[in-house]
Parts: sequence; structure tokens; C-alpha cells
Amino acid sequence: MIFYFSGCGNSKHVAETIAAGLNDTLTFIPEAAREGRYDYTLAEGERLGFVFPVYSWAPPKLVLDFVKKLTVKVPELVEGPTSKPYIYFACTCGDNCGLTEKVFRKAVEAKGLSLSACFSVQMPETYIGMAGFKLDTPDNAKLKIEKADSLLMRNIPRLVNKESFSEMVVGGLAWLKTYLVNPGFNRSATDDSKYLSTEACIHCGKCVEACPLKNITLEEGRPKWHGHCTMCMGCYHHCPVNAIQYGKATVGKGQYFFS
Ligand SMILES: Cc1cc2nc3c(=O)[nH]c(=O)nc-3n(C[C@H](O)[C@H](O)[C@H](O)COP(=O)(O)O)c2cc1C
Ligand code: SF4
Ligand code: SF4
Repeated sequence: MIFYFSGCGNSKHVAETIAAGLNDTLTFIPEAAREGRYDYTLAEGERLGFVFPVYSWAPPKLVLDFVKKLTVKVPELVEGPTSKPYIYFACTCGDNCGLTEKVFRKAVEAKGLSLSACFSVQMPETYIGMAGFKLDTPDNAKLKIEKADSLLMRNIPRLVNKESFSEMVVGGLAWLKTYLVNPGFNRSATDDSKYLSTEACIHCGKCVEACPLKNITLEEGRPKWHGHCTMCMGCYHHCPVNAIQYGKATVGKGQYFFS
């Protein structure tokens, strides 16, 4: 059982690759949350996996909110009262993850469960919502994907064998980024009121389709944002004519999504 979230396709690619390697099933977190599906039962020996992008050096708030509500029944009688399920996560990031592992471990432990394995996967950058943030060059993006695929080929067998391991790119000033910057990001940087569409809009509705939170409708052919955004930037990156901007922060920065 793999729960995943993805705004621009990087984590979806990782989740699908892991699912293929483990012959496992995928559940898209925003869809399950929308439908109120929080109760699950693991089969005997079944792995429980999570795949998500790192947002401001922590798991996205919507992923943590989902985990908080999740109930996972374990076949204790079959496995024995002391055996716990094998739980892992894989997170994608542009550069580094800060203390994402610590935050996620705590969320899992709050459920009486424990994390067995985790790893980060560097993928092309998607965040450009503030001055100073830019995308990778196409060459660098391609290189990151190639490296990510070989990292997955190395780590999937470790998940198959239920190894305990942690292979995270933490980066510098990790505590500061995760515990000081991240709460500020969640409070203010997910504000969608700065999103706009320019006259270039061709009214195709691709931004509506791209939004994992169903936060966009078309009003007279142009996107309207409804205030429950996670700042995945999927709408911006999927617009075929680059008609979406986030204030002035995104102007001239180009687009990327995993394809
Ligand atoms: C809102 C937001 C915050 C991000 N924060 C980080 C970060 O703290 N560290 C990092 O290395 N990458 C960060 N990134 C980059 C993404 O984690 C990375 O590009 C990821 O692969 C995107 O996954 P997705 O395509 O599945 O949405 C951020 C991206 C977004 C949209
Ligand atoms: S409105 Fe755009 S940035 Fe916000 S969640 Fe939807 S696709 Fe992502
Ligand atoms: S994806 Fe771009 S062109 Fe299509 S409706 Fe949205 S803003 Fe307009």
C-alpha cells in the first residue's frame, strides 16, 4: 500500500516506479482525503509506503494532516503481537530535505507505528514562487532524473527485502529551516491570492485539471483560485502557454513538469 502526493509529477514518477518494483498499489492522498478514506487494513506482511515532495524542508502539511487522520489496521494475530508493519517513505526534493525524516518519523510514531526506512531523491526543482528561486536548466533536470532512476533501482530491492535504512540529503542549517522557516512557509507562502492569468490564456482548462486540490475553476474561461492551495505550482507549470503567474515572482522563469 503506497500513499503519495505530487504536484508536478516528480513524486508521482517515484511512486509509480516503487509500486512497479514492489508490485504494490497507489493511493493519491488528496483524492483519499477528499473522499474521507482514512481507514485501511494491511494484509499480512504488507509494506506501508509514503511518497511526497519536500516543501520548505518538511513533508507537505496536507501529507502530515492525512497521516494524522489515518488508521491502519495490522493483522497482529497472524504476525504476532510484537511484529510491526514495515513502513517507509521516499521524498523528492530539488536540493535537500532538512529534518523531513524527523518530522515524518514523529507523525508515524504518534500512531503507535514506527518508520523502518526512508530516502530522498533529488529531482528537478519546481518551486519558483519567491525571488531568488529558479528552475534547473533542462540539461541539469535530465541529469537529475537519470540519477534518480538509478537511485531507485538501488533502493527498491532494499524495500523488497524490508531493510532498515535512512538515506537522506539533509543539507545545512537543517533545524532552522525545518522548525523556523517551514512554519512561516505554511502560514503565508501557500496564499494563492497572488496567482493570476494573463491575456495569453487560451481557456483550455489544463490548470483546472492539474490542480490536485481542485482549487481552480474556470470563470468566463479564465482560472479562478479558491483559497485552499498547497503551492505545488502544478497549475503554473502545466499551462501550455505560460499564462499563469504568481505575482511577479515567476515572470520569465520558465516551466517544468515531469513528463
Ligand atoms: C512549495 C514548494 C516547496 C519546496 N521546498 C523544497 C525544499 O525545501 N527543499 C528542496 O530541496 N526542494 C523543495 N522544493 C522542490 C520540490 O521538492 C521538488 O521539485 C519535488 O520533486 C517536486 O515534486 P512533485 O513534482 O511531485 O510536486 C519545493 C517545491 C515546492 C513546490
Ligand atoms: S492552485 Fe495551483 S499551486 Fe495551488 S494546489 Fe492547485 S495546482 Fe497547486
Ligand atoms: S492552463 Fe493556461 S491557458 Fe489553459 S485555462 Fe489555465 S491559464 Fe488559461
